[in-house]
Order: sequence, then structure tokens, then C-alpha cells
Amino acid sequence: MTDKMSSEAQHLFLSRLDAGATVATIEIMRGVDDAEILHIETLPSHRRQGLAQSLLAEAFDWARQHQRQAVWLEVRAGNDAAINLYRKTGFVQISTRKRYYADGEDALVMKYTL
Ligand SMILES: CC(C)(COP(=O)(O)OP(=O)(O)OC[C@H]1O[C@@H](n2cnc3c(N)ncnc32)[C@H](O)[C@@H]1OP(=O)(O)O)[C@@H](O)C(=O)NCCC(=O)NCCS
Repeated sequence: MTDKMSSEAQHLFLSRLDAGATVATIEIMRGVDDAEILHIETLPSHRRQGLAQSLLAEAFDWARQHQRQAVWLEVRAGNDAAINLYRKTGFVQISTRKRYYADGEDALVMKYTL
């Protein structure tokens, strides 16, 4: 497994590669005081191997290096895999955005304090 990283002052895009192919990615962006996870995904063939958890840990390090206070995200209320991942990583649910998605599903707003 290898890594590919693209980092600017405001933005980090990090991938894990297996035999040259991208198998997991995360994208995080800085706000004024905090940071936000824009995207995280692992290929089905590579799930439950700790890849997303390790990408989140690196994203937290990047946010700390930029003196952020917290990392925020929104997740579909029915996305049990992602919600379990975030809870296991230390995110807590702060609020719910009713019918946030175009199909009417609620979003949970979650926060990780750095
Ligand atoms: C959510 C997702 C990113 C998890 O990726 P992953 O690399 O498989 O996650 P990890 O292996 O790091 O899992 C860490 C922990 O998260 C939880 N978890 C992950 N997938 C889970 C699942 N399908 N069911 C229940 N818990 C799950 C578990 O607690 C797991 O620890 P464990 O394997 O020791 O039990 C992946 O399922 C995915 O890409 N889903 C589609 C895209 C998506 O929904 N992204 C999030 C949008 S907000």
C-alpha cells in the first residue's frame, strides 16, 4: 500500500494506493477556525481494513498542524457504516439537519474536537 497526497494551505486530498490503483481517499478543507471532511470513501474490495480510520487520523494531524479547533462533517442518517466509523474515531453528533439531502433524508452533523 502506498500514499498519494495533494496539500494546499486550504485543502488536503489524500489517497491510499494498492498496486498503483486508488483504493481509499479523503478530502478535507479548512474553514476559519475549523475544518470539514468533504469526502471519504474506500473501495468495497478494501473495506473493513482500517483504511478510512487511518485516513481520518492523518486528516486530524493536518488540521492540528493548521491550528484548527475541530473537524466537522455531515452524514446521511441511514449511513450506518460511516456513522459507526465516525463514532469509533471520536466524532460526536451535534445536531440533525432535517431533509437535508435532495431525496429527503436527514443529515447528522458531527464534530471531532482536536
Ligand atoms: C464508510 C467507509 C468510508 C468506511 O471505510 P473503511 O475503510 O471500510 O472503514 P474502516 O475499515 O477504517 O472501519 C473503521 C470502523 O468503522 C466502522 N465500520 C466501517 N464499516 C462498517 C460497516 N459496514 N458496518 C458497521 N461498522 C462499520 C467499524 O467500527 C470499523 O471498525 P472495525 O472494522 O474494527 O469494526 C466505507 O464504507 C465507504 O466508502 N462507504 C461509502 C462512502 C461513504 O458512505 N462515505 C461516507 C460519506 S459521509
